[in-house]
Amino acid sequence: MKITEEVKEVINNNIVHLATSSRDGNPNVVPVGLCRAISDHELLIVDVFFKKTRKNMEENPRVAIAVEALEELKAYQIKGKAKIFAQGELYDKAVEIMGEQNEVREKRISVLREKRPEMAERFEKLVASHHKLRPKAVVLVDVEEIYSTMRGVGGK
Ligand SMILES: Cc1cc2nc3c(=O)[nH]c(=O)nc-3n(C[C@H](O)[C@H](O)[C@H](O)COP(=O)(O)O)c2cc1C
Repeated sequence: MKITEEVKEVINNNIVHLATSSRDGNPNVVPVGLCRAISDHELLIVDVFFKKTRKNMEENPRVAIAVEALEELKAYQIKGKAKIFAQGELYDKAVEIMGEQNEVREKRISVLREKRPEMAERFEKLVASHHKLRPKAVVLVDVEEIYSTMRGVGGK
């Protein structure tokens, strides 16, 4: 299933929600910031904090992702199969993605200092603690299905 440029843009620039399920069907869904389209049929997700999510994917590789860019009236559900890598080229890519995201957050802090000074200090502490972390693993999702969830509410 081809991931169009339009869908890639929404995934790469928004928080996605990653749904997994245990072997016996217990569902779990978490927000994920570090999800990027790396080809026309693959997503890379950086595992820094996954617990139940990781366990579920080890038991059952089928995942679903929901993502929205509502100001552009775009929303999608993506389904696919996940594979986990704890080292290698894809892991190195995950380290790179995490570094880029840390830079984006640094920029956000300077905006926050002006607009919400009361939040800036808390945000700064959180970002500083993230700087010390490294990905535990990286998840490669082979995308099998993509739906527009806007269609169900009268959009495209
Ligand atoms: C806005 C936001 C973005 C997040 N992004 C990531 C991420 O990119 N990678 C990650 O491993 N955890 C991320 N998390 C943490 C997960 O959402 C979740 O807390 C973690 O996987 C533990 O939950 P689990 O035991 O259900 O897996 C994020 C949390 C929030 C609130």
